[in-house]
Amino acid sequence: MSEKIIIAIDGKEVSANVGEMLIQAADRAGIYIPRFCYHKKLKIAANCRMCLVEVTNVPKTLPACATPVMAGMKVFTRSKAALKSQQVVMEFLLANHPLDCPVCDQGGECELQDLAMSYGSDNSRYTSAKRAVHDEDLGPLVATEMTRCIHCTRCVRFCTDIAGVQDLGAFSRGGDMSIGTFLETGLQNELSGNVIDLCPVGALTSKPFRYTGRSWEFSQHLSVAPHDGVCSNIYIHTQSDNYGSKNKVMRVLPRENEAVNEIWISDRDRFSYLSLSAPDRVKQPMLKKNGVWASISWESALRYVADTLTSIKVGQQANKIGGLISSSSSCEEAFMFQKILRKIGSNNIDHRLSTACFADQENFSLYPGFSTPLASFADKKVIFLVGSFARQQQPLLFHRIRQAVNNGSKLVVINSYDYDFSCNIAAKYITGTKDILKTLVTINHMLAADIGFGSIDKRISILPEVIAVVSLLRSAGNDLAIIAGEKIESHVQGSQIRAWLYNIAKQLSGEFHQINKGSNSVGCWLAGAVPHRGELANDCQDIGLNAQQMVEEKLAVYLLHGIELDDFINPAAASIAFKEADIVINTNSFISQAAFEYSDVILPLAMPAEFSGSYINCAAQLQQFNTAIMPTAEAKPGWKIYRVLAELMQLQGFEYEHCSAITTKFQDYLLSVEGKVDSSRWNLSEPEYLDKNQLYGCGYWHPYRIDQMVRRSEPLQKLVLEKDNCVRVHPDFGNHLQVTDNASVVLEQEHFKGTYTCIYDAKVAYGDLYVAASSVNSINLLHVTAAMTITSGA
Ligand code: SF4
Ligand code: SF4
Ligand code: FES
Repeated sequence: MSEKIIIAIDGKEVSANVGEMLIQAADRAGIYIPRFCYHKKLKIAANCRMCLVEVTNVPKTLPACATPVMAGMKVFTRSKAALKSQQVVMEFLLANHPLDCPVCDQGGECELQDLAMSYGSDNSRYTSAKRAVHDEDLGPLVATEMTRCIHCTRCVRFCTDIAGVQDLGAFSRGGDMSIGTFLETGLQNELSGNVIDLCPVGALTSKPFRYTGRSWEFSQHLSVAPHDGVCSNIYIHTQSDNYGSKNKVMRVLPRENEAVNEIWISDRDRFSYLSLSAPDRVKQPMLKKNGVWASISWESALRYVADTLTSIKVGQQANKIGGLISSSSSCEEAFMFQKILRKIGSNNIDHRLSTACFADQENFSLYPGFSTPLASFADKKVIFLVGSFARQQQPLLFHRIRQAVNNGSKLVVINSYDYDFSCNIAAKYITGTKDILKTLVTINHMLAADIGFGSIDKRISILPEVIAVVSLLRSAGNDLAIIAGEKIESHVQGSQIRAWLYNIAKQLSGEFHQINKGSNSVGCWLAGAVPHRGELANDCQDIGLNAQQMVEEKLAVYLLHGIELDDFINPAAASIAFKEADIVINTNSFISQAAFEYSDVILPLAMPAEFSGSYINCAAQLQQFNTAIMPTAEAKPGWKIYRVLAELMQLQGFEYEHCSAITTKFQDYLLSVEGKVDSSRWNLSEPEYLDKNQLYGCGYWHPYRIDQMVRRSEPLQKLVLEKDNCVRVHPDFGNHLQVTDNASVVLEQEHFKGTYTCIYDAKVAYGDLYVAASSVNSINLLHVTAAMTITSGA
């Protein structure tokens, strides 16, 4: 605990921590000191001078943000000298600032406007022309009006210190100073939208939101972002008239929660709301008869679904029904969805559409996720990340890792693609998909020779990169966190890799964590949206089919909830299974052309913001969110759809008046298992390696193709630079294959094939084929990460 001293601010005794700045002590005591450049989460720059205060026995006023507290110090924030200094700074700032708040997008929520009212003068002594600054295009998310910039450098410091990339810089000096990018590349980081909130003036504003509304017209709703395992806290701002006819989400802003997202959100969380008005929203229930779609009433649609499911139940064909649900569905949706299926008699339920290997599903005592709070990464000496581009896939989780690295932690990485992590990596080993398991087995042997299974691979064990990895792991003491990334979830040897990673954690007394796709994977596990566990992790007598088996075994009836082909790791197989099924009941917010082809009934589903519920993030924190706007047209919250369906089918146990009654079950359960999450069922077995003559895919979902919402956010889609029809290979491997850069090639899996452009990319591990999931041509692949062949398409 830091040492305390007493200082006086404006005559009030204030307790301060030794080493902190005056402004921090004042903020804690509720004494406001004006500021522009200071921000509690950024490094101190002290360049605006708006925080000048008087300190006794010091001849000049001092910047409160850069003056350390000292015992007995007497500070005056509103004395004549302090106010004079603050007014002078304000006069300088306004000398070159346009005075057009009424047309400025920041008007009404501008720190400069507010402080000018409190500290500014009502007339200006400057009569010369004001400067104008060239605007730079920062991309589709952030709009610029740099003439309004007051050079506080918050945006520059955010990019460098928080996002870890030098996207922005300050150029020139004095009156010529301007903020911009070095190479006019636009903002390139996944947290870039935070500069909009940080900018104290209207220089950086939201491009999609620009000139669409005024902050005082909005209602604010507490919510949770549904795109990654962190589940960042957000505010949804909505606009509606008295009659509710203009019921629209206007923007999404971060909501402070130190234990989850601190005060930041990712661009994905901020801009995916634009999909609420996507043209392919489902507006009413629809039924296909003889190949022709017709809109029908909810009653008719649910009656049709109820009769269909009841007849299968009566005919004892329940094992022919499969239920597939999005891992970003709420706890309440997943709970009701699996309950209906289990009541009918089917345990074929799954949310793990991106999982490639299910062999160890029993090993998870409760769920795959994080066994410690997100903030705990700050204390880790070594963080070992395997198979992940966490920076883009889990931006707020990686922000914690980056902060830890900046504070001295060592980041150790094993990947099949040499990703740019925007922070210092202490050791990394880039190896092909086939060799990840072999590498981990070898590392286990190097850490302790007597493992009992497998053998040390001499080729791997003498590589300097691997030696560096092992020595850093050894140096961790007990402060080691191992994270199996999203690519391990979709790796065809995922089970074995997890076991050997877990064994490294066990050998070194470290922690073992896992990243999963979707925002509510933990909630889906606990809801029972898995084939081998009932609700709230109850054991299940008959283990049902997992997601992969469900599409491979071609069932008669599929119940789909909030998913489309792009969500599958085996999209072509899913497409065939759905097309050949007798009935596909598709509860969805959106409908693509492909979904029109394979569906038989479409039930319009309310989207996040349109219903209440809860998500449980990767660290098992349950967070509730409320309805912000009315559902689009006839869309309904998922849990309600299944409640009414259950009533029609006369099933018992669905009598929930409000979704909070279901949420309470999860809250009580989480309390009962607090601290009991362990992985004690993990055991090693003789490793089975992949055929060294086969080629494997190492692609994954682009962060802006990860779920239905982000796929329909236009500004985010402009940032998907990955060409849809490309396969990336290492140049040396391209030469080995005798395929040139930009040549046409054919990828083939069993009888599936597609033509791609071969792109040389030195970041791909030698021998791997990188095809991004959820891209136009990956839809033609049987399995994005399984074995495939490549041949010249010429
Ligand atoms: Fe007014 Fe603020 Fe806009 Fe400047 S940035 S014009 S002070 S609202
Ligand atoms: Fe500060 Fe905004 Fe200018 Fe950046 S653009 S330096 S945040 S005023
Ligand atoms: Fe202190 Fe800017 S806030 S100098």
